[in-house]
Amino acid sequence: MSILDNRPALKGQIDKVAEVAGYLWQKGWAERNGGNITVNVTEWADDAMRALPAISAPRPIGKTLPHLAGCWFYCKGTGKRMRDLAREPMANGSIIRITADCAHYEIVADQPVAPTSELPSHLAVHDYLLAKGSPYRASLHTHPIELVALTHSKAWMEKDAATRMLWSMIPETKAFCPRGLGMVPYMLPSSVELADATIKAIDDDYDVVMWEKHGVFAVDADIMDAFDQVDVLNKAAQIYIASRNMGFEPEGMTDAQMRQLSTVFGLPK
Ligand code: 13P
Ligand code: ZN
Repeated sequence: MSILDNRPALKGQIDKVAEVAGYLWQKGWAERNGGNITVNVTEWADDAMRALPAISAPRPIGKTLPHLAGCWFYCKGTGKRMRDLAREPMANGSIIRITADCAHYEIVADQPVAPTSELPSHLAVHDYLLAKGSPYRASLHTHPIELVALTHSKAWMEKDAATRMLWSMIPETKAFCPRGLGMVPYMLPSSVELADATIKAIDDDYDVVMWEKHGVFAVDADIMDAFDQVDVLNKAAQIYIASRNMGFEPEGMTDAQMRQLSTVFGLPK
């Protein structure tokens, strides 16, 4: 028995999470338990689901998130591997419900798998998105090799320095990651401080932000779209590195060429 039985729409969302988890492993971005995924599945919760008992005691989120009362999330389990989640999403993740006090969650299905240690960042961002009326329902944290490598340089941590370089490598990067790449200075993984800094960076008008010397955090309408934004950015970083490995600094598209893209395709920046 699974909460996904006879709920094809909800199952469709979890199937997409499993598919993306497989890509993260194939990309080499998900060593061991690296990375996490959460999806706000509240719109797929029905009355029978709402009547289900919790299978864990309420546990504190670490923050009070006023827009999340009664919301439902699929969460990767802490310590669980993406490569295992790809095969068995409900054994390597769980569905949680936020309690009425907006400060705790309880696990409802299928198994008492404790959610990701990065839950404060994920839930704080979902709360922020709901407050803004955003259609975004998915958030992804992963460890893409080339993007993380960039954050080991103070020069690339400067606001929009990496964005400009990555956008200029291939036109698709700006077209499909049109807000660019925000930068969050190093903070302790799983901390509330990291959650607050992540929201601040996203509020500065980015869908994708780097956690310095750690990984990337991306939001989008669904998990496939969030993955695509990270994928195009990391591809651009690889092109930059390939040019450097060939012994030259890549030219990059010109500012005029990038402005033209924004005009013709109606991009926000
Ligand atoms: P979890 O296994 O708790 O999801 O942690 C993985 C991770 O990447 C922490 O930043
Ligand atoms: Zn991480």
